[in-house]
Amino acid sequence: MTSRVGTVAFQGVEAVPVDVQAQFVSGQVVFQIVGLGDKAISESRERVRAALHAIGLALPGKRLVVNLSPADLPKEGSHYDLPIALAVLCALGVIPPDFLDRYVVMGELALDGSLLSVSGALPAAMAANARDLGLICPKASGSEAAWAGEDLDILAPENLIQLINHVKGTQVLTRPKPHLAVLDGKLPDLADIKGQEAAKRALEVAAAGGHHMIMVGPPGAGKSMLAQRLPSILPPMDAREMLDISMIASLGGELKDGQLTRRRPFRAPHHSASMPALVGGGLKAKPGEMALAHHGVLFLDELPEFQPRVLEALRQPMETGEAVVARANYHITYPARFQLIAAMNPCKCGMAGEPGHQCRQGPRCAADYQQRISGPLLDRMDLQIELSAVRASDLALPAPKERSADVAARVARARHVQAQRFAELGAAHLRVNAQADGDVLEAMTALDAAGLALIRDAADAMNLSARGYHRVLRVARTIADLDGAEHIARLHLAEALSYRQKPAGLRQAA
Ligand SMILES: Nc1ncnc2c1ncn2[C@@H]1O[C@H](COP(=O)(O)OP(=O)(O)O)[C@@H](O)[C@H]1O
Ligand SMILES: [Mg+2]
Repeated sequence: MTSRVGTVAFQGVEAVPVDVQAQFVSGQVVFQIVGLGDKAISESRERVRAALHAIGLALPGKRLVVNLSPADLPKEGSHYDLPIALAVLCALGVIPPDFLDRYVVMGELALDGSLLSVSGALPAAMAANARDLGLICPKASGSEAAWAGEDLDILAPENLIQLINHVKGTQVLTRPKPHLAVLDGKLPDLADIKGQEAAKRALEVAAAGGHHMIMVGPPGAGKSMLAQRLPSILPPMDAREMLDISMIASLGGELKDGQLTRRRPFRAPHHSASMPALVGGGLKAKPGEMALAHHGVLFLDELPEFQPRVLEALRQPMETGEAVVARANYHITYPARFQLIAAMNPCKCGMAGEPGHQCRQGPRCAADYQQRISGPLLDRMDLQIELSAVRASDLALPAPKERSADVAARVARARHVQAQRFAELGAAHLRVNAQADGDVLEAMTALDAAGLALIRDAADAMNLSARGYHRVLRVARTIADLDGAEHIARLHLAEALSYRQKPAGLRQAA
């Protein structure tokens, strides 16, 4: 008899159904797994054998074949242990087949038969729910899976014995509960930053419209400080956004204790990060930092220090909101609608352009350093701002009165206006001005004659690219929204244009 158990393989955030079939046949006593599994899956044999032994079951002296179907789909990960074990238990007659028909199964086995948490429980649960099935997963992954739906039937045992007892009716497993992370950790506050009023204003505009931003300035000007305070002024995510990013975090094994949070992700990879770490992929296809920053912030400090290949890989996701990972014979796409915040010094020694400072290598110091940032990448930065060093006399001033909460309230108001407008324009899938394109962008950025004249002159004078032109319009819309204005005025346009005047520190680049 062949037994079958349903499980999933992950392609990006999509959970593709996979059938695990087990059969005992006469012949040489071997345990064989076929169906394009990776190393973790071929090692699964030993874990399954040991776990069955631990619950007092020995495999009969027959040939055991386990097939993972469809056979041409590559399968990766350790979550196949439990479905394989259950398929074997079913073939042995320990678990009735009609029970397993109703579930998608995933979980890693330890040698003693206990179940270890696996990544991807949330997307697997969503897929099970969509197919009107339940989910069997390890206890440690249960609370995360419980988010997939209130009616979803979830069995989350600690070990194999508990599951078998549940099937026999001698011990009933309770449904795990979804947990929302308690947001007790206080975020760093904007009130810590003295001076730098222009940069704070730019940060507020970036937060309100979801715009990409680059900060250029000497070391110690407060660039990293500013970026780290962006989360404190961003609004919390809604339920849909939270589920979207949690699915990615689940696949990346980044959900702490299976708890979901409404706080937007803030990812700050080090500049030594590799291509797979940023884009995703690698040995096991995992989402990279770009995908993990979906609906949140990707902060790249010391931008020119990143590998050039990594920097160029940013360009496409910045426009499309998707990160594409090439695998041996197929592509995986992860959602990656992040807001990029970059910071850099103007030159290697960090002081180019500072009054009274002479770079050791003269003007080449800045030129060489800035050339690492390509023109097209810079063109995608909506807000390009320059910070100057804070003076000691500024630092001695009392802390500014305005706190993050005050700025966050203005940002939330501006975002509310944007959401309403997108709904009216029939583009409810958009959330912030930075995402608007085509007709929608045109409809929401209509200019009066004075505005048109201003932007036409400026576009010529500043040599704006078509992309740059649209980016200015989006930023101007955000500034008008912060202002509570229905129409974009010259004042709003002028401010938006000022953010595209390449900072002196970046003139040589591009
Ligand atoms: N505007 C500021 N207000 C208060 N402290 C500041 C300011 N700018 C810099 N500092 C101090 O200098 C340190 C370095 O700032 P940082 O943000 O790391 O600079 P950068 O990233 O521009 O090199 C901070 O930890 C803080 O103590
Ligand atoms: Mg810094």
